[in-house]
Amino acid sequence: MSEATSPGKIILFGEHAVVYGRPAIAVPVAEVQARAVLHPAGSGADFRIIAPDLSQDYELTEAKPDDPLATIVQTTLQYLGQPAPPAATLHISSTIPLGRGLGSGAAISTAIVRAMAQFLYRSLAPAEVSSLVYEVEKLYHGTPSGIDNTVVAFEQPVYFVKGRPIQRMRVKHPLTLVIGDTGIVAPTHTVVGDLRRRWQVEPERYEGYFDEVGVIVNQARVAIEEGRLGLMAIGELMNENQELLESLGVSSPELDGLIQAARQAGALGAKLSGAGWGGNMIALAEPQVAVAVAQALTQAGAVKVITTEVARST
Ligand code: MEV
Repeated sequence: MSEATSPGKIILFGEHAVVYGRPAIAVPVAEVQARAVLHPAGSGADFRIIAPDLSQDYELTEAKPDDPLATIVQTTLQYLGQPAPPAATLHISSTIPLGRGLGSGAAISTAIVRAMAQFLYRSLAPAEVSSLVYEVEKLYHGTPSGIDNTVVAFEQPVYFVKGRPIQRMRVKHPLTLVIGDTGIVAPTHTVVGDLRRRWQVEPERYEGYFDEVGVIVNQARVAIEEGRLGLMAIGELMNENQELLESLGVSSPELDGLIQAARQAGALGAKLSGAGWGGNMIALAEPQVAVAVAQALTQAGAVKVITTEVARST
């Protein structure tokens, strides 16, 4: 038997603009996890995939060509030079809500790659895991930047630019983040596709917004890595990033309501996280204020609230 997990993720700064070559900052969220467990089956048995959360139970040979679970299994087998699938059953489970910007797709794929490698007595570096998962991200998202697979495969805060090697972020002071879920499912590829159509009509306007987001991300990187500007500066940059996300047309009344509630409860800053139109928002809070922010989010209609800490780098 082999078993592997993967955390979820949140984007702290720079979603959407990162698809257009600007930098973004993301961190893993260990409070939610995807899990893949492989059990050996009797010799001659087919490779079976069971994912109760997704109401899936089928054999690899029966999978549709664009099935993301089968694709990551086959991509991994090919990469590991395994001509035929082993006789085994793959169980997939996850506590990461689907389609809410917490990286559920990338995390499920990452857990599968890790469990498959372990089952076949092979070891893969995070960069190898990340590029295998990216292949499947393209199926889910169309034009993914690659930030989701990078942050979950490396399990570290990252400063990410599409197509460039990962840059790990140092974190000078711990960050307490409160994550509020609107409960609304908004598939990333729909929101990204809609923004792309608007960018095609008015490229200069949207490129201008992306440039402004890029400046905020670089300021945030300095603030997080050096810590001299304090948490208030990071919160203020989150608010500025949110204003630009509103201009990009990816916020929603539900997200705006939760963001407002978090700020009123004393958060230092708040913004949507991920693709938007639904999904999750994040708020930065002093640790002693985090409980009040979490309560305010629940009262304002959040279906789930997670409080997480981005630890100081040692
Ligand atoms: C999704 O987690 C983040 C987006 O920027 C899309 C991407 O980077 O591929 C909206």
